[in-house]
Amino acid sequence: MQFFQLLVILAAGAWPVSAASCHPFPSSVIEFSAGFQQPNPPRIQAEYQTNFLQHKWNQNLSHITTGFIKNSPSQNFVQVDEAYDGGLASSLFNYANTTDDGLVDNILTAYNPQSNTPTVWQGFVNSNFPLFPEDILITYGAVFGGLVRRRFNTDMVAAWDIMYQGLIPVTVYVNHCNVMVGYDYFSPGLRTRVITEYFNIEVGSKSLMSRYHK
Ligand SMILES: *[C@@H]1O[C@H](CO)[C@@H](O)[C@H](O)[C@H]1NC(C)=O
Ligand SMILES: *[C@@H]1O[C@H](CO)[C@@H](O)[C@H](O)[C@H]1NC(C)=O
Repeated sequence: MQFFQLLVILAAGAWPVSAASCHPFPSSVIEFSAGFQQPNPPRIQAEYQTNFLQHKWNQNLSHITTGFIKNSPSQNFVQVDEAYDGGLASSLFNYANTTDDGLVDNILTAYNPQSNTPTVWQGFVNSNFPLFPEDILITYGAVFGGLVRRRFNTDMVAAWDIMYQGLIPVTVYVNHCNVMVGYDYFSPGLRTRVITEYFNIEVGSKSLMSRYHK
């Protein structure tokens, strides 16, 4: 039940890589270097599955969750399996079925330790787990945010800033192989902040990605 409340709050509130594609970042993207030039936004490796950690907070809530994400633009879905304080849940976000204002069809299966049956709920939500297509940084005209350190990454990664759906400032972190390693955003409405970090990332071909809810 807690989880449903959380979804309601959110609905109210916001919302192994081929070596060939890996090039070290050029010195022209290092801030304060002579000859600095803002790079063009890259295409990202968008069919992937990964473990993740996510922390979301606002004035009244602090929610930390961890699990597994599948991001498949070719099949228009994001699958999120997660464990958090007091429960387990599995969400299928069907991005083939969205509303004009950006809400997405979600089938949520939640497991509560007090019950021996899962609860299944379906409806439109403002998702914390956007679908990231290959050209997202290009279509949004992403602004280069510099090279930064992110946990779970030995090398520095590029930060790219976009206004997701024109409303939400999102920073997408991409390594030198154009693999996404996480994203952060904030939503001014309820002063909500969300940090999402990826680890154990596997970039797959379309055929590797299968949705297991149907
Ligand atoms: C689209 O999503 C809504 C809300 O979850 C759901 O009621 C409806 O059945 C979905 N339609 C299709 C065609 O999947
Ligand atoms: C936090 O809770 C207070 C009291 O219920 C409420 O007035 C306020 O709007 C809530 N803030 C957010 C960001 O949900």
